[in-house]
Amino acid sequence: MASYYLTICVLFLLPLHFSLIHGNTEEGFTINLIRKTSLQPSFPQGFSAMSTIPQSPVSAYLGEYLMELSIGTPPFKIYAIADTGSDLMWTQCVPCNDCYKQINPMFDPTKSSSYTNVPCSSNLCHLLDTGVCSPQKECNYTYAYGDGSMTQGVLAQETVTFTSTTGASVPLKGIVFGCGHNDSKNGFNDHEMGLIGLGGGPASLISQMGSSFGGKMFSQCLVPFHTDERVSSKMSFGRGSKVSGSGVVSTPLVTKEDKTPYFVTLLGISVGNKYLPYSGGSSQNVAKGNVFLDSGTPPTILPTEFYDRVVAEVKNQVPMKPVVDDPSLGTQLCYRTKNNLGGPVLTAHFEGADVKLEPIQTFIPPKDGVFCLGFTNTSSDVGIYGNFVQSNYLIGFDLEAKMVSFKARDCTKNT
Ligand SMILES: *[C@@H]1O[C@H](CO)[C@@H](O)[C@H](O)[C@H]1NC(C)=O
Ligand SMILES: *[C@@H]1O[C@H](CO)[C@@H](O)[C@H](O)[C@H]1NC(C)=O
Ligand SMILES: *[C@@H]1O[C@H](CO)[C@@H](O)[C@H](O)[C@H]1NC(C)=O
Repeated sequence: MASYYLTICVLFLLPLHFSLIHGNTEEGFTINLIRKTSLQPSFPQGFSAMSTIPQSPVSAYLGEYLMELSIGTPPFKIYAIADTGSDLMWTQCVPCNDCYKQINPMFDPTKSSSYTNVPCSSNLCHLLDTGVCSPQKECNYTYAYGDGSMTQGVLAQETVTFTSTTGASVPLKGIVFGCGHNDSKNGFNDHEMGLIGLGGGPASLISQMGSSFGGKMFSQCLVPFHTDERVSSKMSFGRGSKVSGSGVVSTPLVTKEDKTPYFVTLLGISVGNKYLPYSGGSSQNVAKGNVFLDSGTPPTILPTEFYDRVVAEVKNQVPMKPVVDDPSLGTQLCYRTKNNLGGPVLTAHFEGADVKLEPIQTFIPPKDGVFCLGFTNTSSDVGIYGNFVQSNYLIGFDLEAKMVSFKARDCTKNT
């Protein structure tokens, strides 16, 4: 497990999750997805998928975003972390002797008529390379995250139900998910009933949906950190989720061996008018796909050398003294102020897309009267574009055009 993940937990005073550590980060824990099985979810008779935009309400809770959807027959509501940095969808299932506490009841497979276990003999058992055959010939899985938390259980298939723009329900049959029977007690809080993997690997909900809704694409609009949990925004799927119109900027997705993360190329970051290239040299020799967008990681994580330059420039431009006498804040750059800072505005310069970041997206209050730069550092040369900076943008992931699009928006007003 990477030590920097631990550091971040302390610094932000939040129980955090991180998506899978990928093979291309130095702190190597790799999950290889060994077989590409094409899954084709099916619809009930008479259902027209092409004219439907499935949606899922998403709300903020302690640095993570909880997505609402239903599984099973009759539909059972779950609230689980929306995570573009991993693939498996899972929820805690009865019986759960080795699970963490959750405030809502747990999903009980015996009460659903559409639940089926994935047999060991099925190709689906190999969607994750950690699938093992139990004596009962069930496909047991183990899935671990960068912060050391994990889930263990049985791979199963269920009907997953979304709502749509018209209010109608949109059922998708045969979605592979993990019924968690043994989940980290320290990794998740009692509002989180599991996690929805929205990455690009074959096991993810996005890959399983494929082009069922007229196109392999989805969009999110995350409300800013500390937004009341009753205020939700929407995650949308399929062709109707395409982000377009005036003010949209787009950057290419970069394909790498690891299919899970959505890699893009960050050329540099401006602090006010001061441009800082990603690498020590210039924007011309920046490696393609040097960051990935991860809705399951709150801070933005940059290579130490780049991070240090960004922090130095922020310090230079903020006319206040940073907090140095509060050990609970660790080494992060914080300021004591009642309201958020007035500036500087940062700009993330992606290849082909400049994305402006206001203080509400970059300065995060870990406690009352203190605002800290929501960035941290890594020894890896691949960074993470975290969920703080993704907030208040409608972000579209178009996996066919291989583009990520950004459109500034007040996500608290988005319906
Ligand atoms: C498979 O998972 C079930 C439920 O969590 C557990 O009881 C069983 O011991 C596991 N078997 C193996 C071989 O891991
Ligand atoms: C749950 O997982 C932990 C960690 O892998 C293991 O030590 C423990 O025995 C498991 N419990 C059950 C009931 O399988
Ligand atoms: C982060 O930066 C600090 C200060 O520059 C350094 O001491 C630490 O080793 C860095 N952490 C990682 C994981 O690179």
